[in-house]
Amino acid sequence: MSTEKGLKLVDRDESGVDTAFRADVLAGLAQEQKAVPARWLYDDAGSQLFEDITQLPEYYPTRAETQILRDQGESFADMIGEGRAVAEFGSGSSVKTPLLLSAIAPAAYVPLDISGDFLRAAAADLAEKFPGLPVYPVEADFMRQVALPSDVTDMPKLGFFPGSTIGNMIARTAVDLLRNMRETLGIGAQLLIGMDLIKDERQLIAAYDDDAGVTAQFNTNLVRRINRELDGDMPVDALVHEARWNDDNARVEMHLVATKDMRFTVDGRAFAMTKGESIHTENSHKFNRRTSNMLLLAGGWEPQARWLDKEERFSLILAEARPPRSAP
Ligand code: AVI
Repeated sequence: MSTEKGLKLVDRDESGVDTAFRADVLAGLAQEQKAVPARWLYDDAGSQLFEDITQLPEYYPTRAETQILRDQGESFADMIGEGRAVAEFGSGSSVKTPLLLSAIAPAAYVPLDISGDFLRAAAADLAEKFPGLPVYPVEADFMRQVALPSDVTDMPKLGFFPGSTIGNMIARTAVDLLRNMRETLGIGAQLLIGMDLIKDERQLIAAYDDDAGVTAQFNTNLVRRINRELDGDMPVDALVHEARWNDDNARVEMHLVATKDMRFTVDGRAFAMTKGESIHTENSHKFNRRTSNMLLLAGGWEPQARWLDKEERFSLILAEARPPRSAP
């Protein structure tokens, strides 16, 4: 596998189709509960639609987390201190990342992203805003262990993973990621991670089923992508967006629900859905103090501090990778 940098992150066949996308869609549509992994929601159109979602009145997580970053700068400075290399998992946000960097005066900034285009844009933006700060972009799949640039090896590290993106993973995947982050950053590193909180079901559903229908477009864009990239004929208008609260698993689920019996083909394979059947397209887990602590501990991170926005909708948690020790 190779890119310009010697590491190929997307494997395409001779017709230009992303082979992992095809494999996930064909396997997921063949399951009893049809499902497509949420990562495929983010083609160019999907990424733009997600940006639009973050501006919606009903979608509080982005505003709530930004408010914490804005209000708690002094507290971050106390707990984190100056001179760390900040490794951000995912391309930085033009609003959140500068707030953190201004508060803690880091020695370097290392954005990690699988998409080189987003990465270069975010790195250039940051370099312009913080002229003296060394920026070392790393094009990599941060779900795995990543080798950081040698220039930051001797610096204390802070991982930054905002947005409650961890909530889009089932527990097993989230724990794997946290453990890999611990390997990437090393013992003694800190992690500042955003986790959205369990709250009133109506508020949660509204955040994932907005009045303007932007989240619905974000969800149905997956069908358009499958039809375009995998030569499908799925009836876009007969698959409608639904947000469901799954209380046992404390998560909002996105589904595409069939409004009629249907047959369609994708990549030459035939599929059928009956009216009311759904394709599960996303999980967005919500947390409380105990469940977020438990998840972090399972991933090798000891919680140190926790900040909430004024309306207590969202949490930012600081945790530390402590050395292994025997304990009961
Ligand atoms: C990216 N992620 C944290 C968002 C979330 O809230 O789970 C994705 C999203 N899906 C629908 N709306 C926003």
